[in-house]
Amino acid sequence: MTGFSDVAIQSVRDYWNRRPCNIRHSTAEIGTKEYFDQVEARKYLVEPHIPAFAEFEKWRGKKILEIGCGIGTDTMNFARAGANVTAVDLSSESLNLAKKRAEVFDLSDHIEFYEANAEKLSDFIPSQKYDLVYSFGVIHHSPHPEKIIEQIRQNFVRSGSTLKLMVYYRYSWKVFWMLMQEKGKFWKLDEIIAKHSEAQTGCPVTYSYTKSTVKDLIGEDFENEENYVEHIFPYRISEYVKYEYVKEWYWRILPESVFRKLEKNIGWHLCVTAKAK
Ligand SMILES: C[S@@+](CC[C@H](N)C(=O)[O-])C[C@H]1O[C@@H](n2cnc3c(N)ncnc32)[C@H](O)[C@@H]1O
Repeated sequence: MTGFSDVAIQSVRDYWNRRPCNIRHSTAEIGTKEYFDQVEARKYLVEPHIPAFAEFEKWRGKKILEIGCGIGTDTMNFARAGANVTAVDLSSESLNLAKKRAEVFDLSDHIEFYEANAEKLSDFIPSQKYDLVYSFGVIHHSPHPEKIIEQIRQNFVRSGSTLKLMVYYRYSWKVFWMLMQEKGKFWKLDEIIAKHSEAQTGCPVTYSYTKSTVKDLIGEDFENEENYVEHIFPYRISEYVKYEYVKEWYWRILPESVFRKLEKNIGWHLCVTAKAK
């Protein structure tokens, strides 16, 4: 998995500035309360496993470092639950919206925002130890995810701090679906995953991991607590972009219990919780 290590960070930044993550989750006027409420409702409708993974309520009064906050959906929920959050992102466009969102919900006192490349995080934010370092769907989009882990390990955790990461799962239905779109060209798999992984085609960097390779990424200084797979996107894209939620016929005929079993085995989100030793 070295295919993206030469990608310039500027092209990653440009990509997320062109279309911040989840920016089209609402049709309301951008930056309004209604807009942000709709963004949140759609995000947790489509990715309902996030609140259970993040455990927002657990972090009341704690210090959280969120790496790659995007437009801030999870950030707001950590702050709402009473945590103090340092939120960083590479994309200024995403951060502008996240900041606006904190103002709209009167949460600015609980959140400090920084524009930063997490691979060099200690150049951008003061070194301090956090209770939780949280990063949902981010480090696999950076050319050197191992540098982000190294930054976290060296500067931002103490023994007992929690690390929660979501990275994409290589042995997933979504990867199989992408391969089908590209007529099974498995020798181009990494390229194909990056092309199709996001709502905006052609992400410059998208790594994917197995349960074993993510453990190698996190390294010996973290003790793995939980490591599970979640999330199959079941909706037809043609309706989804019109804010209608119609499942693909093959998911419709499947009993919910079977669908949930599949999500737990071949879901797209590999959710990892570890403790710093
Ligand atoms: C898929 S979005 C996820 C955003 C947010 N965590 C969420 O769940 O809505 C990926 C985010 O990672 C950010 N990102 C990618 N590489 C980064 C890096 N090296 N440092 C900081 N942020 C980065 C992007 O700018 C983008 O906002």
